[in-house]
Amino acid sequence: MDKKKIIIINGPNLNLLGKREPEIYGASGFEEYFLQLQKHNPDLVLEYYQSNIEGKLVNRIQETDGKYDGIILNAAAYTHTSVAIHDAIGAISVPVLEVHISNIYKREEFRHKSIISSKCIGMISGLGLKGYQLGLEYFKTMKRKK
Ligand code: DQA
Repeated sequence: MDKKKIIIINGPNLNLLGKREPEIYGASGFEEYFLQLQKHNPDLVLEYYQSNIEGKLVNRIQETDGKYDGIILNAAAYTHTSVAIHDAIGAISVPVLEVHISNIYKREEFRHKSIISSKCIGMISGLGLKGYQLGLEYFKTMKRKK
């Protein structure tokens, strides 16, 4: 069988990982972590997209339809505000797993509400960058959509 194709989509400020509040988000940048993910998961085809712009994230989510087996989405601050991202997830048939590096429930109250969760298959929050690897493990075992 051909390899499952998964895209990781990161939202605003996640391009600054490694520099941004390292006590919360850790000391490694995402690009280098992504290379490790590719190395550790040769059984998957992995892609990565990051944008600070809400509409670009919506476009990328729409474009995945029919082309990927899963999306790992860290919508970052848009998690808490974006009806447009919520609607984009609802508009595609690709399953979306929500990931947060930090535990959003341990932080400021405005982070406790995720607008997108109701459209996602589940959420991993607070496990650091490992959350992405765990998300990939989930997609490996998930039954493929026809
Ligand atoms: C985040 C949590 C969000 O509240 C925050 O705005 C982010 C990152 C996380 O990965 O922990 O930018 O999604």
